Amino acid sequence: MRRTPTIILSITILLSACAKLIPGRVGRAADISVAITPGRVALGKKLAEGIMACGSCHTTGSFEGDPQQEMHLAGDLIINADYGRLAAPNITPDKETGIGAWTDGEIIRAITKGLGRDNRLLLPIMPWATFGAVLTDEEAMALVAYLRTGPEPVNHTPDKTELTMSTKMLASTGMFYYIYAKEDFFNDYVPSMTTAEDRGRRLAFLGACIDCHAYAPKLFPDFGEPLAGGVRYEVPDRPTVMCANLSPDKETGIGSFTDEEVYNAVKYGMRLRPLPDTEMVRWPMMPRMTYHTSLTDDEISDLIAYFRSQPAVENDIDQREMELVEKGK
Ligand code: HEC
Ligand code: HEC
Repeated sequence: MRRTPTIILSITILLSACAKLIPGRVGRAADISVAITPGRVALGKKLAEGIMACGSCHTTGSFEGDPQQEMHLAGDLIINADYGRLAAPNITPDKETGIGAWTDGEIIRAITKGLGRDNRLLLPIMPWATFGAVLTDEEAMALVAYLRTGPEPVNHTPDKTELTMSTKMLASTGMFYYIYAKEDFFNDYVPSMTTAEDRGRRLAFLGACIDCHAYAPKLFPDFGEPLAGGVRYEVPDRPTVMCANLSPDKETGIGSFTDEEVYNAVKYGMRLRPLPDTEMVRWPMMPRMTYHTSLTDDEISDLIAYFRSQPAVENDIDQREMELVEKGK
């Protein structure tokens, strides 16, 4: 019995040593200077304030469903669960507490490769792996142009991230990094733009729909098949909410609903299966959904085409949530 902790500890130490190699593999931040043009700022704004919804995590109050306009992108604690408390940092141009003092290359590397300024591995709840898989160089530069000039600098440091010991150990191994950023992940998923499905898949990456509605690192029971849902969001004093099944399964996914119904779900947050107490999607899909109103009809039909093209997976989320409620979660 006593050997088990020693073995786990040795493996952790070994893996942590490997994690130190990740920054080397990713490489230094590019030494570039992004020219700020009106076209770039506009594109960056469209992405950041639309499909990529940076503020849905980074704006103070967003995750509680109450985004504070004057604290746009100023950071907040977004998760408070069994595995710890997690903050989304201040990404306003404030030099002291935001990213104002970062270089352009450092900002792009954080968004697309998941390395912080100090070579810190960013946890994958920041959707760098999905962003990085599809973002073009021009789009990445456009985000920088917007982040530098659009949002007001706000001097604010959110409560600190505090992970539990076991999560910290797992994170220190770089395991999350490999699960999300493994080579074939990028190669498999870089889509061409020829069909509606491909365009939809690209949007589903930019919108991190894949991250929440489940892309498939099968190591974790909560992550199922692509789009089958089930990832849990929990904060104290609130019922746990599980991400919906967006796969084309007829019984438990979107399969039996018309394009118009799915359109209203994506654009306006109308739940496909209304609950006794609400017809609208709940936190954290709301207020994230408010970013979707800027999507064009073509973009939404592309997303729907992509969802419908994926494997149908039976996964009854409402039922699973009821079981959690019964367990007092
Ligand atoms: C689903 C929530 C979520 C979304 C959406 C999101 N982020 Fe993040 N972001 C985070 C979290 C959480 C962290 C901190 C991760 C950590 O500490 O390991 C982070 C970290 C960062 C960092 C590193 C900051 C630092 O001080 O180390 C940058 C830069 C960043 N995000 C930019 C963006 C931009 C730009 C967008 C939109 C294009 C965006 N994020 C969208 C959650 C999110
Ligand atoms: C931060 C995690 C998160 C992200 C990112 C996310 N979702 Fe969701 N989504 C959820 C959760 C949680 C629910 C369930 C809400 C509920 O049960 O009320 C949900 C519900 C939905 C629903 C309603 C489904 C139904 O059965 O009624 C649709 C449609 C949807 N999301 C589409 C999207 C799309 C499209 C994207 C990407 C552009 C996306 N979501 C990104 C967490 C997320």
